[in-house]
Amino acid sequence: SIDLSSLTRQTGLTSLDYGFVNTAATRSAITYIDGDAGILRYRGYPIEQVAENSTFLEVAWLLIHGELPTPAELADFDDRIRRHTLLHEDLRSFFSALPHDAHPMSVLSSAVSALSTFYQDSLSVSDPEQVELSTVRLLAKLPVIAAYAHKKSIGQAFLYPDNSLSFVDNFLRLNFGTLAEPYEVNPVLSRALERLLILHEDHEQNASTSTVRLVGSTQANLFASVSAGINALYGPLHGGANEAVLQMLANIRDSGESVQKFVERVKNKESGVKLMGFGHRVYKNFDPRAKLVKQSADEVLAALGVHDPLLDIAKELEEVALADQYFVDRRLYPNVDFYTGVIYKAMGFPTRMFTVLFAIGRLPGWIAHWREMTQDPSTKIGRPQQLYVGDVERNWPTGR
Ligand code: ACO
Repeated sequence: SIDLSSLTRQTGLTSLDYGFVNTAATRSAITYIDGDAGILRYRGYPIEQVAENSTFLEVAWLLIHGELPTPAELADFDDRIRRHTLLHEDLRSFFSALPHDAHPMSVLSSAVSALSTFYQDSLSVSDPEQVELSTVRLLAKLPVIAAYAHKKSIGQAFLYPDNSLSFVDNFLRLNFGTLAEPYEVNPVLSRALERLLILHEDHEQNASTSTVRLVGSTQANLFASVSAGINALYGPLHGGANEAVLQMLANIRDSGESVQKFVERVKNKESGVKLMGFGHRVYKNFDPRAKLVKQSADEVLAALGVHDPLLDIAKELEEVALADQYFVDRRLYPNVDFYTGVIYKAMGFPTRMFTVLFAIGRLPGWIAHWREMTQDPSTKIGRPQQLYVGDVERNWPTGR
């Protein structure tokens, strides 16, 4: 790799790189990916081992601090997060100002942006205690905000968090519990969700993390930077793909179109139809997360006693696409979003909550990158160059 930081200043030359396909914007020690070999490691630990052995908060700590927590550090971290789950009462009422049919991702980003107004004592970028406080607040409150966005969309009352429950169990209860009856957490569902969240925790310089870094490079606070990241995640080419996959599968089921025919439409570029949940900027052989999620899909649906024809359609789509020269030539494989939606659906989440679940999963990665960047003395404000292609100079018409 070549360091081009001062190329323009020294030579007047600029490199044009649509979509940053060849341009590294930073050095980072958080996540390693080898896209050709299908390798993903968090701080050096292979994703397969992480997904098997860890808890969500343990991985969050690892990503943020670089080492696994000691039992005492983890207990303290977990305890601090439990004690910060409550939302300010005025923030709870903030939800009633939004339309009930708002997309939960819009609600999520707005509410996270609003955290800067409610928690003004942790907005510093340079004071480590304030950064730690905003970190804990975000990790504690994002799942609560997400659950309230869900409750709001189905017209049910919000529950207060139950801090005797673990991170994931509390989240499940806030989503699926009601004021009328006690909620019992299904351990199969809880472990499956925790595993999915762990698989989403970081993915180096993807669009939303790069957004968090770009906004953070202006020294905007952590809440503002993460809110921007949530908006970047919302798009269907990024995190929004998990929602789009389920819509695609349901459309195939409802229209009665064969999988073969659908794939033919995808191959015809003029149709504008993509095989959602396929393809990745970095992975060109397989996405190791997708492999793990596919395994989970079978296990979780069986354990929950659900048979979903959408899973059969997804498997058939994968089989047909992987045998097709169009996908082979372009090295397109299922990505992490291809099978997650079927699992979230079996868990009882509505389709519009899928990307919100991705956001909860990705939060530790966003925080880790924001903190790495703000501590790195090489950080500069992010400010891409452009190649100007408009008129060089024109005189303003007289007499206007
Ligand atoms: N369906 C059909 N064709 C595709 C797909 C797809 N899902 N993905 C890529 N292609 C084609 C492109 O049209 C292009 O064809 P061409 O060379 O004939 O022009 C070729 O494959 C290369 O694709 P690019 O768009 O150049 O790849 P890029 O790295 O820019 O995009 C992306 C990656 C955005 C993920 C793309 O594959 C895509 O749109 N996939 C569908 C959406 C999706 O699943 N997004 C989630 C990504 S993972 C995540 O963010 C968590």
